[in-house]
Amino acid sequence: MAKDGDNGWKEYVWNPRTREFLGRTASSWGLILLFYLVFYIFLAGMFCLTMYVMLQTLDDHKPKWQDRLSTPGMVIRPKGDEYYQITYNTQKTESWDMYAQTLDKFLSPYNNTAQVEKNNVCKPDEYFQQEDSGEVKNNPKRSCQFNRTILDECSGITDRYYGYQEGKPCIIIKLNRVIGMLPGKDGQAPFVTCGAKKEDTEKIGELQYFPPNGTFNLMYYPYYGKKAQVNYSQPLVAVKFLNITTNEDVNIECRINANNIPTGSERDKWAGRVSFKLRINTI
Ligand SMILES: *[C@@H]1O[C@H](CO)[C@@H](O)[C@H](O)[C@H]1NC(C)=O
Ligand SMILES: *[C@@H]1O[C@H](CO)[C@@H](O)[C@H](O)[C@H]1NC(C)=O
Ligand SMILES: *[C@@H]1O[C@H](CO)[C@@H](O)[C@H](O)[C@H]1NC(C)=O
Ligand SMILES: *[C@@H]1O[C@H](CO)[C@@H](O)[C@H](O)[C@H]1NC(C)=O
Ligand SMILES: *[C@@H]1O[C@H](CO)[C@@H](O)[C@H](O)[C@H]1NC(C)=O
Repeated sequence: MAKDGDNGWKEYVWNPRTREFLGRTASSWGLILLFYLVFYIFLAGMFCLTMYVMLQTLDDHKPKWQDRLSTPGMVIRPKGDEYYQITYNTQKTESWDMYAQTLDKFLSPYNNTAQVEKNNVCKPDEYFQQEDSGEVKNNPKRSCQFNRTILDECSGITDRYYGYQEGKPCIIIKLNRVIGMLPGKDGQAPFVTCGAKKEDTEKIGELQYFPPNGTFNLMYYPYYGKKAQVNYSQPLVAVKFLNITTNEDVNIECRINANNIPTGSERDKWAGRVSFKLRINTI
């Protein structure tokens, strides 16, 4: 009995009499394979066709979907640690040297020589518009020079340690890029202001901004995107802490002021703002 069952199983796998493998002849198997082959080629073809049609409708130079009123975030350099905490000791070179190095690296594309090579001298205080005319793309688009020397005492040129050594550190702020954004209305440029959180107001001391008034000149807007405007240099604002209380934590918040950029909206509490903690030890 057991032997018979065994035979039946074997015969199912390979039946020498009918020349069937797993119950099918070679030609039957062949047809099945052929069917699936054609089927999958067809599916792949459909996929490629759909992709192709989709990609045709995308413009290389402009995102198809973008929030209409996205408020840009702000970031600082040097970043400090992951909590935006910048701590160092003026007595210990190795504790602040890395901040100076970070800024050197960050600012090197802003060297005047590099800017002159890449970018235009633009007319200040007005938008640098380079619209496409209908279907005719006005590409590539030029960008405006942002010379490192604009940052003056925070440029790392007159003071290669950016004030860190003497306890008057510079922090550099940039506004994240938003394609097509025209910040400021009626010819008023957006500007950055920094202040201490409530409990630290006594400790922040006097601030100095570069460029003066902490403005982002209107000529750096609008931004047309990475592909259309390859050499774009984001404008920067540096803030120097001239008399900050040492040996204590100071909580600082900087924000963008523009008459058409809402800050700290419901949707994004951090829009247009950045907070960080500065602690300068001297002992
Ligand atoms: C930028 O300028 C600084 C000093 O002015 C120099 O040390 C640095 O090598 C320059 N960087 C580039 C990329 O040219
Ligand atoms: C940037 O610096 C270069 C050389 O120092 C100068 O020729 C150029 O006019 C400056 N650009 C702007 C926009 O100030
Ligand atoms: C970008 O900069 C390079 C030099 O670094 C220059 O040759 C090129 O023309 C610039 N392109 C645009 C679109 O400004
Ligand atoms: C800075 O702002 C003050 C007052 O708003 C203005 O009088 C002054 O011209 C501004 N300075 C610069 C360099 O924009
Ligand atoms: C610096 O700040 C201290 C208080 O923290 C104050 O007593 C001193 O007058 C300030 N110095 C200057 C030059 O503003």
